[in-house]
Amino acid sequence: MKVLKMSDLPLAGKRVLIREDLNVPIKDGMVAGEARILASLPGIRAAMDAEARVLLMSHLGRPKEGVFSAEDSLAPVAARLSELLGFHVPLVGDYLEREVKAEPGRVVLCENVRFNKGEGKDSEELGKKYAALCDIFVMDAFGTAHRAQASTSAVARFAPIACAGPLLYSELEALNRSMSGAVHPLVAVIGGSKVSTKLTILDSLSAKVDRLIVGGGIANNFIKAAGFAIGKSLCEDDLVDEAKRLMEASKNAGGEIPLPLDVVVGREFSPDSPAVVKKIHEVAPDDMILDIGPETSALYARILAEAKTIIWNGPVGAFEIDQFGKGTKALCEAIAASPAFSLAGGGDTLTAIEKYGQENGISYMSTGGGAFLEFLEGRTLPAVAVLEERAR
Ligand code: 3PG
Repeated sequence: MKVLKMSDLPLAGKRVLIREDLNVPIKDGMVAGEARILASLPGIRAAMDAEARVLLMSHLGRPKEGVFSAEDSLAPVAARLSELLGFHVPLVGDYLEREVKAEPGRVVLCENVRFNKGEGKDSEELGKKYAALCDIFVMDAFGTAHRAQASTSAVARFAPIACAGPLLYSELEALNRSMSGAVHPLVAVIGGSKVSTKLTILDSLSAKVDRLIVGGGIANNFIKAAGFAIGKSLCEDDLVDEAKRLMEASKNAGGEIPLPLDVVVGREFSPDSPAVVKKIHEVAPDDMILDIGPETSALYARILAEAKTIIWNGPVGAFEIDQFGKGTKALCEAIAASPAFSLAGGGDTLTAIEKYGQENGISYMSTGGGAFLEFLEGRTLPAVAVLEERAR
């Protein structure tokens, strides 16, 4: 990956426009999860310390273009950033109509880029307007690098200089280390509710990893494909054959998709539902599989202990309900305890790591959701491709 890095450029007095991914959960007008804001701070601080005039931009949610909506305003983010940086970070709405210039060493936040017409379609015209705001454009929004939009792509084509920020760079390094540069055994844990949303990643991983542990609703397709009853568990019946094909593909590539030995079932997806451990062949017609069982957790923990590289995306059970969270907790602890280089990504995965207090044991936690998966699928991230193009 050959891109220009922000850390290689003189920034003093320069207008530096940093594209961040400050798309964070907001609840009652307050930031309800600040991982992405915290991850953006090193890049912001480095630019401030170099006496740059820092302009930040980001999207939040998916508002209708051309229309301001208070619920998608970055105001709560500006407030939290001000607290974290220790000075007032103004939020500016009309940055496309007038010149906005931060003082050297200070920061101004531009309002949600998705309020601007042309943002989603990667408009050249809008990209040129963003580019006119700066001397140097810094792409530091790894979580949005899979989107070719005016603030991630067009702006980078037209800015006088376009480079990668420290977060984007370290994310790409960590992902490269766990894929092309992976030390084997390479084990991937892919959970989540639906196979359909993870089919491409399962497909690409099944040919590359030594063991592919599947969990959550996804695992039910594999359990059914192996001939076991799954009761009224979540399952995409039209994809059971795909699950069979993936198990074959994995075997042909010298790998394995291990199946659970036991599961935790409930009557329904509810905090009031009692949790019952059953062997994989004991699932009754009115059971709903909501977690892996203790024997399976122990089996998977042994696999993870022997791994040299681990990729984790998605919980293996309904961990938001405590009695169905033991499998995810056990795997989270096993990944954290493993000597392997471990890379975790995706909103639910980071929430689980936080819930079980295992942050220190995970080698790298990615801020990307869709971007993380697309990179692992082997797809080119358009916002990175532009930077590579500019560096040629
Ligand atoms: C994310 O949350 O995955 C990124 O911020 C991208 O958001 P989007 O899916 O709305 O483009």
